[in-house]
Amino acid sequence: MSPASPVSPGGEPSGATAESGAARPTDEAGNAAARERLAAIGEIAAEIAHELRNALQIISANVYLAKQDLPASAPYLGRIERNARTAHAIVDDLMALARGEPAAAEPVLLVEVLASAREELPDPGADFEDSVLHTLKVRAQHGLLARLFHVLYENAVAASSPRRPRIRTRAEATEDRVVVWVSDDGPGVPDAVATTLFEPLVTARPGGTGLGLALARRVARAHGGTIELAAPDHGDGATFRIELAG
Ligand SMILES: Nc1ncnc2c1ncn2[C@@H]1O[C@H](COP(=O)(O)OP(=O)(O)OP(=O)(O)O)[C@@H](O)[C@H]1O
Ligand SMILES: [Mg+2]
Repeated sequence: MSPASPVSPGGEPSGATAESGAARPTDEAGNAAARERLAAIGEIAAEIAHELRNALQIISANVYLAKQDLPASAPYLGRIERNARTAHAIVDDLMALARGEPAAAEPVLLVEVLASAREELPDPGADFEDSVLHTLKVRAQHGLLARLFHVLYENAVAASSPRRPRIRTRAEATEDRVVVWVSDDGPGVPDAVATTLFEPLVTARPGGTGLGLALARRVARAHGGTIELAAPDHGDGATFRIELAG
């Protein structure tokens, strides 16, 4: 698709939300085509998930067997095994999310969620700077919330590529909410997508699918929270504000 073409997903809650604030396309035919495309993507995603489950099961079983015979390769096999497990959990969690099930939230340490979110970031990775209390807890499903932050970190890396960005994560707890800001020192969000970037299929990145932030918003909502683009923390770069139950 062409970069930065906004698409209305349909079926979203009515009324502009802080996180999208987007003017919806008024063209009815365009809306119908976009809805049809998203429905098709949804179906294909469910089929992919179904097939991936089997493939991941086979990877895990065979890694287990290989570990018996190849002790020298244990670290590599361990990494394959961990990632197969993560992929399996992602498929299960996202399918539950797609079925509209609320996230199975429990108090989790935010620093542990952030650590999971930083695993397996694309090259060249990032330098992280945190202002997060080690005891700060949020009510969340660890795996899902880690996906949300992974999306933000991955985008910051992609936007700054090939330079390695500095990413700042800051959290503040109010009475019953936790607010987290993630900001980077990259080029900032292009104006063309600034008001629509949480809509599915909105991308301004060559090779991007425009699904990362749509997923991030879905995860935030499943937790009764919000995500929005905020004013840059300092200087250039992008800042995202996430609000969750404490
Ligand atoms: N930290 C950031 N800095 C600059 N632009 C950003 C940042 N985060 C998001 N964007 C912009 O928002 C767009 C949408 O992001 P989103 O993660 O939804 O999709 P994507 O990264 O293009 O594709 P993918 O589905 O692979 O994640 C990006 O294409 C990019 O233009
Ligand atoms: Mg992305």
